[in-house]
Amino acid sequence: MIHIQDVTKTFKDKKIFVTALKHVTFSIQPGQVVGLLGENGAGKTTLLRSIATLLQPTEGSITVNGFDTVKDANEIKRKIGVLFGGETGLYDRLTARENLEYFASLYGLSKHETKVRIDELARMFGMRDYLNRKVGGFSKGMRQKVAIARTLIHNPDIILFDEPTTGLDITSSNVFRQLVHQLKRDQKTIIFSSHIMEEVTLLCDSVAMMHKGELVYQGELEALYQEEGTKDLNYIFMSKLVRGSEHYAS
Ligand SMILES: Nc1ncnc2c1ncn2[C@@H]1O[C@H](COP(=O)(O)OP(=O)(O)OP(=O)(O)O)[C@@H](O)[C@H]1O
Ligand SMILES: [Mg+2]
Repeated sequence: MIHIQDVTKTFKDKKIFVTALKHVTFSIQPGQVVGLLGENGAGKTTLLRSIATLLQPTEGSITVNGFDTVKDANEIKRKIGVLFGGETGLYDRLTARENLEYFASLYGLSKHETKVRIDELARMFGMRDYLNRKVGGFSKGMRQKVAIARTLIHNPDIILFDEPTTGLDITSSNVFRQLVHQLKRDQKTIIFSSHIMEEVTLLCDSVAMMHKGELVYQGELEALYQEEGTKDLNYIFMSKLVRGSEHYAS
């Protein structure tokens, strides 16, 4: 269970204050797949980073399975896997296998556990052909697959993906989609940000829509479709933003 309670996050950039999150409150049930939607700069990455304990809320609090992201960061880190768009966190001079072994060692996995897990993930992602090649020479999609495998190496219960399919081809995007289905069957909690509505419609149970740091909607997709009288998430999203802006202007 993740509880986000009245979270505000303000960055100070030189002398300018930027409020990336404004009084955001919502909860995520275990086993849910949640899509995080919002325009560029809406606060999605900031929210994911805050849940991942990498940023501290300026106001409010976040708990993950009862642990506080500020006070109990280490507890939470063991339970979650995170992947942020554009940052794979991989070492170019190491092979894919060596990268995965390195991250497994950080989580204290035994040699045997590590080998079994790497084999499993390599099979899942079709990476066996290039496991022993250096990551430096990999294409974007190959890198992203290794990065996703790294995120899952310690078999976390909660997985945060920031724009996981950006830059992936159709085949690799489909691998990601299958992976989410598999993780859902394994009762994992997943939150991912995306600009691809089709992906969100296909994979998510619920959505959180952000607009200029505010949460403008959070709830089950089915309920949202009922409420709006359409299943066109793109349309719903745009109309929520317009209403969000009106609320903002008033
Ligand atoms: N470290 C930082 N210092 C200053 N401002 C920041 C910092 N991180 C984020 N911001 C600001 O906070 C706001 C929200 O940024 P954030 O990266 O969370 O948006 P986003 O929804 O992930 O956007 P995108 O879709 O472009 O990835 C933006 O105005 C951004 O400039
Ligand atoms: Mg972002």
